[in-house]
Parts: sequence; C-alpha cells; structure tokens
Amino acid sequence: MDNLFVRNKGFSALRLLFCPILCFASFIVTLHLVHGDLSYSIPEEMKRGAVIGNIAKDLGLDLRTLSSRKARVDFEGTRKRYCDMNLNTGDLVTSEVIDRESLCGKKPSCVFKVDLVLENPLELHRVSLHIQDVNDNSPKFKKDLIEMEIRESADKGNRFSIEEAHDADIGQNAVQRYNLQKNDNFILAVDSNKVELVLENTLDREKQKELNLLLTALDGGSPQRSGNVVIHVTVLDANDNAPVFSQAVYKASLPENSPPDTIVIKVSATDADEGVNGDVAYDFGHLSDEDINVFSIDPKTGEIRVSGVIDFEERSSFEIRVEAKDGLGLTSYAKVIIDVSDINDNAPVIYLKSLTNPIPENVSPGTEVGIINVQDEDSENNRQVRCSIQQNVPFKLVPSIKNYYSLVTTGQLDRELVSDYNITVTATDEGSPPLSSFKTVQLSVADINDNPPVFEEQSYSAYVTENNKPGSTLCSVSARDPDWRQNGTVIYSLLPGEVNGAPVSSYLSVNGDTGVIHAVRSFDYEQFRSFKVHVMARDNGSPPLSSNVTVSVFISDVNDNSPQILYPGPEGNSFMTELVPKAAHGGSLVSKVIAVDADSGQNAWLSYHIVKSSDPGLFTIGLHSGEIRTQRDISESDSMKQNLIVSVKDNGQPSLSATCSMYLLISDNLAEVPELKDISYDKNSKLTSYLIIALVSVSTFFLTFIIIILGVKFCRRRKPRLLFDGAVAIPSAYLPPNYADVDGTGTLRSTYNYDAYLTTGSRTSDFKFVTSYNDNTLPADQTLRKSPSDFLSRYVLSLCNVLKVGWYFYAIP
Ligand SMILES: *[C@@H]1O[C@H](CO)[C@@H](O)[C@H](O)[C@H]1NC(C)=O
Ligand SMILES: *[C@@H]1O[C@H](CO)[C@@H](O)[C@H](O)[C@H]1NC(C)=O
Ligand SMILES: *[C@@H]1O[C@H](CO)[C@@H](O)[C@H](O)[C@H]1NC(C)=O
Repeated sequence: MDNLFVRNKGFSALRLLFCPILCFASFIVTLHLVHGDLSYSIPEEMKRGAVIGNIAKDLGLDLRTLSSRKARVDFEGTRKRYCDMNLNTGDLVTSEVIDRESLCGKKPSCVFKVDLVLENPLELHRVSLHIQDVNDNSPKFKKDLIEMEIRESADKGNRFSIEEAHDADIGQNAVQRYNLQKNDNFILAVDSNKVELVLENTLDREKQKELNLLLTALDGGSPQRSGNVVIHVTVLDANDNAPVFSQAVYKASLPENSPPDTIVIKVSATDADEGVNGDVAYDFGHLSDEDINVFSIDPKTGEIRVSGVIDFEERSSFEIRVEAKDGLGLTSYAKVIIDVSDINDNAPVIYLKSLTNPIPENVSPGTEVGIINVQDEDSENNRQVRCSIQQNVPFKLVPSIKNYYSLVTTGQLDRELVSDYNITVTATDEGSPPLSSFKTVQLSVADINDNPPVFEEQSYSAYVTENNKPGSTLCSVSARDPDWRQNGTVIYSLLPGEVNGAPVSSYLSVNGDTGVIHAVRSFDYEQFRSFKVHVMARDNGSPPLSSNVTVSVFISDVNDNSPQILYPGPEGNSFMTELVPKAAHGGSLVSKVIAVDADSGQNAWLSYHIVKSSDPGLFTIGLHSGEIRTQRDISESDSMKQNLIVSVKDNGQPSLSATCSMYLLISDNLAEVPELKDISYDKNSKLTSYLIIALVSVSTFFLTFIIIILGVKFCRRRKPRLLFDGAVAIPSAYLPPNYADVDGTGTLRSTYNYDAYLTTGSRTSDFKFVTSYNDNTLPADQTLRKSPSDFLSRYVLSLCNVLKVGWYFYAIP
C-alpha cells in the first residue's frame, strides 16, 4: 500500500508538472494498479525523459543492486522503446513521446506493458503503462470543401448526408457536436452516426444558383477544439419553368407572292430554366394540311419563314399556333396571325359569253352582237376593271350589270367595205402597276344582197363592119357586183326589144356569164347602119338586183356593091340610042350616064370614064356627073353612028365598076337615018319582027291576065283562103338579109319592099315606083305568100320596060 502511495505520490508529482487537469483521473487509474504488478498511468505526449515512476522504490528494490542485477526494461515484440529505466534512481522515464492516438487509436483504454527483468536471481515484474488521452486533436473533416449538387426540385425535408468530422481523440475529446451556419434553406440533423443537411425551404435555382454553408464540428475537450468545412451547394436546375412567349398573339402582315425564305415574323419565348431545361425549341402546333407546307419555323430562332406559295386569292389570312418547348418537354403556345395583303398579280380575264357571228350587214346601229364578262381575282382596287375596245371600229362596249358589257354596233355595217373585224377587247385593272389582258373577238359581216351589179361603163359601143360572120364577137360588157357569192354573181342578158321590127335576139346574143356580145347574123350596112340594144346585168340574189346598159352597135360600110347603071340599060340588051343634032356645038349636053351605088361614102362615090369610043375626041364624059358632051362642033364628016363604052367606078378599096354602051346617032331626024335599020339589022336583024310578035303576044296575054285578075279579086273577097293555098315555101336563107327577119319563132315579119329607080338621081329620085306585097306583117311560117297582084306588078313592070324600049324604038322615026 505504501508503494502504491509512493508511486502515487510520484505520479502526482508528474501530473502536477505536466497536466494538472488530468490529475484526478490519473489518480483513479493509479488505484487500479493496485491489483496488478505495477501500473502507471501517464498522459500522452510527455516529453522524453519524463519520469513515469520510481520502479525500484515501488517494487522495493535496492538501488545498489540494480546495476549488478542488470535491471532492464523489455518490451514485448519489436515495439519501440517508449521508456527506459534509470539505474541510478530507479526511475522509469520516457524515452519517446508517446502518442496515444498512434499507439491505441480509438481504443477507449490505451495500455502497454513493459517487463522489468532482474538477474541474479532472475526476477520479472510486469509494469502496465496506462496512457491517458489528452485533447490534442481537433475535429477534422476530410476535406475543407464539400461540393454538393442539389436539384432545385428537391422536396422539403429531403436529407443530404455529410460525412462526419473526425477527431483522433476519444471520449470527450472526440467530436461532440456540430454547428451549421445559419441559412435559408437547410438545417442540420445530427444523429448518433450521421450528419445530415435537411432541406427546410425549397431551393430555387432561378433565385440562387449556389450557396455555401459553413459546418463546424466541435469536440468536448477543454479547451475545446473545432474543425470547419464549407459545404458548397450547387442548385441544380429542375425543369420547373415552361417557356414563355413574349406575346400571346403575334400579328404579321405578308404581301402575297413573297418569295420563299421571306421572314414573316420572329416569335420568341424565354425559359427561366437553364441548360436543356431552358433550351427552347419552336415548332408549329397543329397545322391544317394545306398550311403545312406554306410556312416553316426555325426551331432555334423562332423565325417563321415563307416556304410555300402565298396566294392571297386562296388564303387571305393564316392563324397558326406556335409551340415553344424546352428540353424536357414543357411547352407553351402562342398564336400567330398572318394577314396576307393583296398584290395585283392577277390580270383580268375576259370571257366572251355570247356572240352573234356573222352579223348581217343590214343590222341597225345599236344592235347587240356579243356579251363580254370580265373577271379579276384580286381584291379591292386590284379588282376594279375597265374594259374598252379600239376606236376605229363601228362597235362599242356598253357596260351592263356588274362586270358585263354588251358589244353593240354603232353604225351601219357594210360587208363590201369591211367584211370582218378583229375587235380587241382590253381589260385593265386599277392596281399599281395595273395589269391588262386582251381578247380578240373576230366578227364577220354576212352578206345581204344590197348592191346591184354596176356596169363598168355608162354605155357601150360596138363597131362592126357589115357582112360580118354570124357569131362573131362584137364587144363585151362587164358589170361588177361587190356582194358575196350568188349575191354578187352577175348574169347578163338582153332586154327584149325590137330593132327594125325584129326582136333584138335575132341580131345579137350575150353570153350570160362573160358578157361577150355576139352577132347572131350578118349585118348589111345598106339595110341599117346602127341600132341599140339594152343589156341587163342581174345578180343571183334573192330578190335579185339588176341594172341595164345601152349597147350601140355601129355597122360600117364595106364596098360590097358595084355601081349600078340605071341608064343606059345593060349592054347587049339596049336599043337605046341618043340623037345628037347635027348642029350641036362643042360642049353641048348629049346624054347622061346614070348610075347608083348602094354603098355609101367613098364606096358610093362614082366616077365615069369613056373607055372606048368610035371617034375619040368627039365626046367627053363628066368625071363625076356622067354627062356626055360634045367636045367640038359636029361636022359633016363625022360618022352618023357613034358608039361609046362608059365605065362607072366607085371609090372603094378595092373599087368596083360597071360598064355600059351608049349609042349616039348624029341626026336631026330619026327617020332620015336609013342606016338606022342597018344598025338595027346589023345587030338584031330580026329584032323588030320579034319585038312586034312579042308585043302582040304580051298584050294578048296581059289582057287575058287582067280578066283573070279581076275574076280572082272578085272571088277572093268572098272566099279568100281558097285561092291562096298554093303558097310558095321560101327558106329564109334564100331571102336577102334585109328583106326577111327571122325572130325567135322564125316568123317572117318584115315587109317586103321593092324599090326601083327608073329615072335619074339617087335614092331620092323624082320617080319612084313602089309596090308592096303587103303593108302588114306576113304571118306565114317560113312562107312567103305571094299574092296575085305581086305577079301582076312584076309583069306590069316588065311590060313597061318593054314598052319603054319599044317607045324609044318607034319614036325615032
Ligand atoms: C383578224 O385576225 C385574223 C387572225 O389573226 C387574221 O387572219 C385576219 O386577217 C384579221 N382580220 C383583220 C380584218 O384584221
Ligand atoms: C345573199 O343575200 C341574202 C339577203 O339579201 C342573204 O340572205 C344571203 O345569205 C346572201 N347570200 C350569201 C351567200 O351571202
Ligand atoms: C334600165 O335602166 C333604167 C335606168 O337605169 C331604168 O329606168 C329602166 O327601167 C331599166 N329598164 C329595165 C327594163 O330594167
């Protein structure tokens, strides 16, 4: 007990020296050692050489023997030598600083045993060293900074573990409590074995992105030690914000026909979240099928662009929902209203609703011939259309209801002037710039037979020389008719009429198609010199129109008649002898040759020549008068009988001539000319007797005939027909042309004239014997009915001629 006490005292002394605070505890430990061999309780961290206790004294060992007995301290194992024994004082001293924490860790009691070995005799004492903890370690966190990420969506009450602080010390010296710096969101929950941050108020990243919390760990030592850690909380974003559009409704105006890629409007939405949660992607909401390709939206920028065709006429406004969506799918919507504005991009369209074509040319002015409708798909002013046609046509547009116009004639149409019209209808809208369109309306004017054929000349003249061939062309007429087809087809014909009592058709014919006029017969100038006919030109319209023209036919003379000697009679048949008084002086008119020519002009200009005479130089003949005169006085020596041959020529080309013989008797008295009988007998020796016989028989015959005629005349009055059945058929061809006219029916109509010129002069003779068979038309069919008076007349004429000759003959004596 004593030892223990001593030891205690020694220990107390140490304690007083190093750590008076632990004094009481050490004392309690020391009390424990009573039961063991020897035990000491020492605080850790004593410096080297510090006396733990006096072993020698505590064990009752003799100090002097310590050395001899080789007292020493042994350690179990290979441990460090923490203490040693001072052999001189018998003290156990520390040879190392003892760190309880490294020696025993967290063990609640830290004891290590030391053996004290003595030799001679061998003694072994066990010494237990109880190492007492000293608060030499502060609580310590593993790191100075704890990084934490907490999503802002974390709920209230969520716990977040924090690694505890560590304190190498034990017991009270270990960590006793924690302290969290005051903050808005977290409180600290310390459990027996864990430290947790408890979310007391929810986080909002959008308000505070991160916070630093200072956590302090405190131990229970004295003096108290502490350790800090900064907890850096990063507030992680939660997608707690939907994008928000800057406007609920966006309005844009877009001209139609905007080209693709035109930016219409830019929508924008913001999202308070960050990162993916704040990435806004734009898209369209529901789109109708027709709108689907019209616009596009840039998912990133929100620009809405044109991607299709914007046609005001199809859609004048669009209402589109746009959607903004953040990364994790929160969406919001806005409306975009796009008003399309009209551009004048549609030209008016002209429709021809009805058309009267062709139009008869006689329609009255103001007649409606067509209806035109104009349409423009644009709107407002771009839709207002003005319509017009060109000026120079006899038509106008009359506005009717709405966009209808009537095409109306303004004047009289004349197909012969303008037969068709191209009417250009121009429609112009009032846009800016205005658009126009054109339509050509083709109108034809239908013919009406409104023009009679018109001859090209006022009148026509045809010149033809007589004796033309039947069928020869005289001239041609031509008429024009500007009407169409049959209304303008001209047909020529002769107007009925008479020439010299015969129908014109027996003289001329006209070719109905060509207008060429032909002679039907041969003309005789000596019969007539000119005549007129009317030719009609008629068109084929219905009713037809016609006009007529006068064609004058002039017949020119041809030298076709030779002179006709009326006196003296034809040669060889003449008893005519002129008496020339013997006393006739030179230049006396002896006789005259009388000739006529049926031609006219030069062709009838006669000249007389003596071609042969028995005494040339005695007689001359007047070149144009035909008067035979003595050239000199008659002398006794001149032959009594003179003979002249006279030729009569006309002046035609070639000229025609006739000759005659003239017998001249130079005598004062015919009776005293004995040679006359000779002359007569010379020539016609038996003439006188024949003549007498003839005269007697003719006279007898004549008387008989007179009686018959009278009888016949008497009978005819009663029964005329009976006696005229013996008509003589005379083919017209045998008739002289100027004596018979054959008209269409072949009827011989003209009177039969017989002119005889018996005396001097031409046609205007002073003695004209005219006989006519009939003053009226003979109605026989190709038959000339000769009345008995015809024969009679002829006979009388012949008789007269005979008598006349006879008279001459007998008058001479
Ligand atoms: C009208 O137009 C047609 C076809 O373009 C043309 O053949 C004709 O000659 C024109 N008529 C007039 C009168 O211009
Ligand atoms: C001729 O004119 C008549 C009216 O006078 C008309 O009816 C007819 O159609 C016209 N003929 C032609 C071929 O134009
Ligand atoms: C011929 O024309 C004239 C005037 O042009 C007219 O007076 C006459 O009646 C016409 N004659 C016939 C037969 O048509």
